Amino acid sequence: MNQRILILSMMICSPVLVAQAQDAGIPRLEKRGTATQLVVDGKPFLMLGAELHNSSSSSLDYMRPLWAQLAAIPLNTVLTPLSWELIEPQEGQFDFTLVDGLIQGARRNNLHLVFLWLASWKNGMSSYAPLWVKQNTRRFPRVIVKDGGPAEILTPLGRESMEADARAFAAVMRHIRNVDGEAHTVLMMQVENEVGVLGDSRDRSPAANQAFNGQVPQDLMAYLQQHREALIPEFRRVWESAGEKPSGTWEEVFGPGVETDKIFMAWNYARYIQGVAAAGKAEYPLPMYVNTWLAGPKATPGQYPSGGPLPEVMDVWRAAGAAIDIYSPDIYAANFPEWCDRYNRGGNPLFIPETRGGALAGANVFYALGAHEAIGFSPFGIDNAPGEAPPPLTETDPNNELGKSYRVLQSLAPIILQHEGKGEMAGFLLDQDHPRTVVELHGYRLEVRLDDIFGSVSKTGSGLIIALGPDEFLGAGSGFRVAFGRKDSGAAHVGIGAIEEGTFSEGGWVPGRRLNGDENDQGRYWRFSPGRINIEKAVVYQYE
Ligand code: DGJ
Repeated sequence: MNQRILILSMMICSPVLVAQAQDAGIPRLEKRGTATQLVVDGKPFLMLGAELHNSSSSSLDYMRPLWAQLAAIPLNTVLTPLSWELIEPQEGQFDFTLVDGLIQGARRNNLHLVFLWLASWKNGMSSYAPLWVKQNTRRFPRVIVKDGGPAEILTPLGRESMEADARAFAAVMRHIRNVDGEAHTVLMMQVENEVGVLGDSRDRSPAANQAFNGQVPQDLMAYLQQHREALIPEFRRVWESAGEKPSGTWEEVFGPGVETDKIFMAWNYARYIQGVAAAGKAEYPLPMYVNTWLAGPKATPGQYPSGGPLPEVMDVWRAAGAAIDIYSPDIYAANFPEWCDRYNRGGNPLFIPETRGGALAGANVFYALGAHEAIGFSPFGIDNAPGEAPPPLTETDPNNELGKSYRVLQSLAPIILQHEGKGEMAGFLLDQDHPRTVVELHGYRLEVRLDDIFGSVSKTGSGLIIALGPDEFLGAGSGFRVAFGRKDSGAAHVGIGAIEEGTFSEGGWVPGRRLNGDENDQGRYWRFSPGRINIEKAVVYQYE
């Protein structure tokens, strides 16, 4: 055997190289300019998903008729719970029937999955922990709330709880790697669900009191000092107002009050969950995220889960470990753009695992993708709860507003992904309170307003625009119109050369009508009429 053949055969047979070859396509996050993309099998992937109700995926029979409907919406990804109580009903005895069945159901329908690891906490509470955990409060101690006593919430200061959760999660990830390490049906993992103390601003168990009265851990202090300039401004202000001390107790460093209780809880939840996530990643390093129950405008910590990854404590979570890749908002509130802005800062990519569905979702998804280059979007409760009206899950259902948007966005996905990270894309949401916005792309100034023709004004508008070339734009959405100008004042006027509607089929543009006359308000505006989601291309020119 000559030396080249010898080296080649060593390469082919080496278990390390075989594993690396298998791993090359593992879903991972990759920075690309200003964007972070989810890369699957070596290609960027735009997740157009939805989350099931909490109990649906606990029964494969219940799921059986749903898969085809979910695919027909059309979704490309289903977010589905996986609960600790069903995976490890007896300590050390694992049952992966559900994991396998859910993966098979998804694969048969060309869907991907994100698993939600509902384990120590779900909506603050610990109802998904196995009974052997719930019953043993000595080994798995609880949060104690003021005037309350033990809550049905595991304390994040419980070392044995963390280790037990991490062991189970590691077993799950090992199993997923074994059954899905090459097919990559499973794209990401959510670790726990909307964590934090409810009923009080902090845990008052003996372990928590002792930690609270002790020094702020060195790891957190070092992080604050090293990242001083890059800290989320809301968090930096709290530290600054208390004198920006380099060490001290929690109240010395952050000042007395419930906000400090929240920072303390954030640190303890974060340490625990970063530990669970790291144990899972050691087995199979899928991207991992945590989701957040957002604080209402007047709510105080404890009315919402105190310690969850809200923007103002995201730095605390980051200081506690690096196994969590994304901090995600569950946006049910009306101020959707504001929450997107607050979560898409400091290098945190936007991924929305839960939000309202229907027409609202159909509009908001354009903003999340266009304005924030979101990795993915996923309204909650897509399968409707048992006993409710059947879900609008068919392609032809006129109520399938989400599906109408997803169908268009799925056809645009390759172009969206190609233009991410380069400042070539904009997204917007318009309504009667926000009827106008201005975006700048490729040296042009685009004034986007609610559409208005012959006295009939759209009530809402949403869409995204991509700068395809120096004078060419691609838009999608409905209910808005665009006026073009140059970014630099005093420069040439801008006219509309041509507008064409069309569709994308297998990546290629299939032209439809040439839009002129009333359809572009006699050449003044690039229009997207209300009531339909259009894809249109516009070519502009400059004149003196
Ligand atoms: C947010 C939770 O994360 C979900 O699991 C579900 O309980 C919804 N709230 C219900 O609106």
